[in-house]
This record gives sequence, C-alpha cells and structure tokens, in this order.
Amino acid sequence: MAAASARQVNIAIIGVGGVGKCFLSQLEQLAARRPDPKLVLTYISTSKKALYSSDHVAIPIAGVTSALAASEQQPLPLPKLVDFLGTSGSKTVLVDNTSSQDVADAYPLFLDRGISVVTPNKKAFSGSYKLWQDIFAAAARSGAKVYHESSVGAGLPVISTLKDLVETGDEVTKIEGVFSGTLSFLFNSFAPVSGGAGGNQWSAEVRRAKELGYTEPDPRDDLNGLDVARKLTILARLAGLPVESPTSFPVQSLIPKELESVGSGEEFLDKLPAFDGQMEDIKAEAEKEGKVVRFVGSIDVATQQVKVGLEKFDKSHPIAALKGSDNIISFYTKRYGSNPLIVQGAGAGGEVTAMGVTSDLLKVLSQIA
Ligand SMILES: NC(=O)c1ccc[n+]([C@@H]2O[C@H](COP(=O)([O-])OP(=O)(O)OC[C@H]3O[C@@H](n4cnc5c(N)ncnc54)[C@H](OP(=O)(O)O)[C@@H]3O)[C@@H](O)[C@H]2O)c1
Repeated sequence: MAAASARQVNIAIIGVGGVGKCFLSQLEQLAARRPDPKLVLTYISTSKKALYSSDHVAIPIAGVTSALAASEQQPLPLPKLVDFLGTSGSKTVLVDNTSSQDVADAYPLFLDRGISVVTPNKKAFSGSYKLWQDIFAAAARSGAKVYHESSVGAGLPVISTLKDLVETGDEVTKIEGVFSGTLSFLFNSFAPVSGGAGGNQWSAEVRRAKELGYTEPDPRDDLNGLDVARKLTILARLAGLPVESPTSFPVQSLIPKELESVGSGEEFLDKLPAFDGQMEDIKAEAEKEGKVVRFVGSIDVATQQVKVGLEKFDKSHPIAALKGSDNIISFYTKRYGSNPLIVQGAGAGGEVTAMGVTSDLLKVLSQIA
C-alpha cells in the first residue's frame, strides 16, 4: 500500500532582511528535519520584489534569496495576497518579517481567511487597541493562530512566559526590565557598576554605539524611548491592561529638546556633546546614593501604571549588573513572591530573533496540521 501523502502546510513570507534571511535558513533546516507536515513555500516578497506562481507551486527554499533578487514579479497588494493564499486549498501560515504598519494592519484580513500569522513585527500588537482587538477577534472566529514571541526581547521567552503565568492563574503584579539592546549597551558602558573606573562622556558612548552598529541609522530612533514603549504596550495588554497606545503613558525621551528637530543623525551626534553635562549630573546623583542609572520600562499591574525612562538601581540589582546589550525582564507575581522570575539574554540579532519566529511556527503547526 502506498504511504499516505504527508500533510502539507503552505508558508508565505514577507520581509527578507536581517531576520528574514536567518528565518529562511532555519525554515530550510526545519523542512529537512521534519518531513511531516510538509512545509511548502508558496510566496515570498520584499517591498519591491516577489516570487510566486498562480498555481501555488512550491518555491525551493535553497537559493531563494538570489531567485527573489532576480525576480521581475511585483509584490501582491495585501488584499490580493489574502485571496491568493486563501485559495491554495492548504492550511497557510504568513510569516511577517517586516516592521511594516501596512502589513500589520492587514492581519485581521489574513486571520479571517484562516491564515495563521507569526511575526517579530511589533506594530500590530503595539498600535491602536482596536487593531489588537480586531486581530484576536478574527483569530477566534476562524481558528487561525497568531504568535509574536520575537516582538519583545527577540527570541527570549518573554511573551510565552507571561502568557503561561496569566493562563495558569498566577497574579502578575509587576513587570520591570531593560527592553532595548541599544540602551542596555549604552548605559552599561556609560555608567558601569565599577563606578568611576569606566564610562566615557554620554555623547562619546552614543557615537561608539552607532559605530559598532548597535543603534538605528539615526540614534534618535533608539533614544526617543518609543521602541521600548511599544514593547511595554504589548506586555501590559497581555497582562490584562487595555493600554490605548504606546504614547498613552509617560515615556522619557533621551533626546535633548533642542536636538529633536536637527536634520540628520550625524548632525545630532555632532551637537550632542553640548548636552553631556545633563547626563553627567544624572549619573553623579545616582553615584552619590551608591547606585547606577538605567533606562527601564515597568508595568505596575495593580495601579495600572506603565512607564518608560531612567531609574536608579543598587549596584547589586540584576538590572544594574546586566552586561553588553542584553535584555532583562523580571516578572513579579503572587506565586514567585519577592524573588521575581527573571528572563535574561540577547534581545536582538537575526539568528535569535528568527529562532523566536521559527518556534512560533512550530507552535502553529502543532495546532493546525
Ligand atoms: N533585527 C533584530 O535584532 C530584531 C529583534 C527583534 C525584532 N525585530 C523585528 O523583526 C522585523 C524585521 O527586522 P529586520 O532587522 O530583519 O529588518 P530589515 O533588515 O530592515 O528587513 C525588513 C524586510 O522587510 C521588507 N519590507 C519592509 N516593508 C515592507 C512592506 N511594506 N512589504 C513588503 N516587505 C517589506 C524589507 O524589504 P526592502 O528591503 O525591499 O525594503 C526587508 O526585506 C522588524 O519588525 C523588527 O522590529 C528585529
């Protein structure tokens, strides 16, 4: 008797940048390692190019980035992509490896058509509260799944841990941590626990972080705190707080007012030394109390307070002792008492971020295939 044909799940990928490329190589290994369900790539695109065929023929994963670069096909407009994927006859997972708000806004359309979504993109879960509700309502209606582990702390098990705490009935009282690899690196260098021994001027540390590739092309995109605010919005919502948007709670920006509107990132870096005194004062004030300053986000669940900004920590505190560009997230709960459950490690990087996406895909496969 012929063996039953393997079950098939189609995969569509949008975004083939730092994370997308790592995800592709993890997908290739996964498909080779686990033949059932058979994973079939049927669509892949960047913002400018796409690869797909109208009859959903499998696209070989090996060498797909070069094939995509050579392709003359345009990406399908999102509603057309929903139709294309929805008519394949197979279960389908959309992997969104972009940071696009437009793609995020379309998740309810995909989910309503039964297409599951896995993504490291923060935009859908930290935008308007209505989009959040629409996404989970669409998933509940169709039974499609949506996972976004890498949207907070990259591959670190932050979202899955919080969901497990909540769903098993623990009471989360507070979440606190360092959520930005860039700001972690900056403060660990600027105000090391070893005190006066290390730590350059603030502006020099920002320039060094940029030169080492730790910051966005314009460092103000890290220093404005919005990326951290987006992550806090996601966690607060998962903890049950109906946070309206990442701008609906206090977020401290580290960009001096006078430099908010200077033209380029380079001009910003040139003018930043004039403001070193402000950061030096903050550091010295903490040092006087035997503490160090760190850029943290916190969610006080009982008082429903979410905030992002500078805080002082004893040098023995796990947040003060963080190294390099690591993230740390502490969950204070009724069960864990005064010793929080702590998740710590690399919170950025293509491979670890893609790992979170691949493990989300495995979770979806275990439920739909
Ligand atoms: N890198 C990390 O360490 C890290 C950590 C945690 C989370 N993340 C998240 O992971 C996602 C991907 O990050 P990345 O570092 O890989 O970004 P990236 O290198 O900039 O790549 C983004 C990719 O998405 C494509 N893209 C952007 N907008 C699109 C659109 N509207 N339609 C189709 N394709 C579009 C880009 O295509 P073009 O090249 O044509 O523009 C590019 O292929 C982001 O949401 C990011 O926040 C990243």
